[in-house]
Amino acid sequence: MPVIVTKRNLNSQVTYLEVDCPAIARKARPGQFVMLRVDRKGERFPLTIADYDDVRGTITVMYQRVGLSTQKLELLGPGDSILDVVGPLGNPTNTEGVRRAVVIGGGVGCAIAFPQAKVLYREGAHVDVIVGFRTKELVCLERSFRNNCSNLYITTDDGSYGRHGFVTDQLSDLLKAGEQYDVAIAIGPIPMMRAVSEVTRPYGLKTIVSLNPIMVDGTGMCGGCRVTVGGKTRFACVEGPDFDGHEVDYDELLARNKVYQSQERRAKEAHRCNLERMVNQLTKGGNEAWLI
Ligand SMILES: Cc1cc2nc3c(=O)[nH]c(=O)nc-3n(C[C@H](O)[C@H](O)[C@H](O)COP(=O)(O)OP(=O)(O)OC[C@H]3O[C@@H](n4cnc5c(N)ncnc54)[C@H](O)[C@@H]3O)c2cc1C
Ligand code: FES
Repeated sequence: MPVIVTKRNLNSQVTYLEVDCPAIARKARPGQFVMLRVDRKGERFPLTIADYDDVRGTITVMYQRVGLSTQKLELLGPGDSILDVVGPLGNPTNTEGVRRAVVIGGGVGCAIAFPQAKVLYREGAHVDVIVGFRTKELVCLERSFRNNCSNLYITTDDGSYGRHGFVTDQLSDLLKAGEQYDVAIAIGPIPMMRAVSEVTRPYGLKTIVSLNPIMVDGTGMCGGCRVTVGGKTRFACVEGPDFDGHEVDYDELLARNKVYQSQERRAKEAHRCNLERMVNQLTKGGNEAWLI
């Protein structure tokens, strides 16, 4: 079973995990992801391979703690193992022939955008990076980006750090100033990827977005990750996750991602109650809580 080598919190919501997975580390490319299952009762869920080191035999994932599976993952630490990690899955981001790129990340999407910026920069491209966060406390990976891009622009929604505003404000200014790019790569919340695509559309700038539909198997069998791109049905796990941002049906993607919201909320709540019960029992000295 894959063992956790390093774990650290990047901010109050995002965790960095380096996991021993030599076979995946040997094959991984930027843009690909893994499917994880934390324990036997756990769901499979996808996380992007944020970095990989084929010498150490490790991959890095960075995740936002949003619900049950990511909370269970958060309970593990260095030396603990994850039940299974399958990958690399999906298609790598196509960086061929890119000389100038703008990479845009929003929230935890910044972690996912990092390998794209890094590989393009190391391949000799000019890479402008725009990363946006709600507030200063959530800013992460600043030094990593600075070492792996030509120019870094940070925005915060509340103006507490970097430029006050959204990533799209910074992108608009760069495009209006005449910056030319071969490609824009946008990764983050669905509304952000949609907004970036609308900013780049009038400029005819090719825009790649990394889609995050619900995935169950990650290998093209269940249809859970169905998205509509250019009027055609595509399976994001095997045909993506990167797609042309100008062609994606974002309304459908948003609606499909909300389908299990009430069940997810209930599962998270039940897990929290179990944990609280366990802590209460332990502080009272009873050990039967561990039987839950
Ligand atoms: C290709 C891909 C790469 C991703 N990479 C990252 C990453 O690097 N870091 C990160 O923080 N998040 C990433 N995500 C999203 C991540 O998979 C979800 O946040 C995670 O599954 C949440 O599970 P949960 O049980 O903690 O939360 P839940 O409460 O179950 O769900 C919270 C939200 O997460 C999404 N989600 C839940 N289950 C799935 C699932 N099986 N597949 C896809 N989305 C789901 C839904 O939008 C849901 O509303 C990625 C998603 C995809 C499709
Ligand atoms: S996740 Fe099942 S087909 Fe894509």
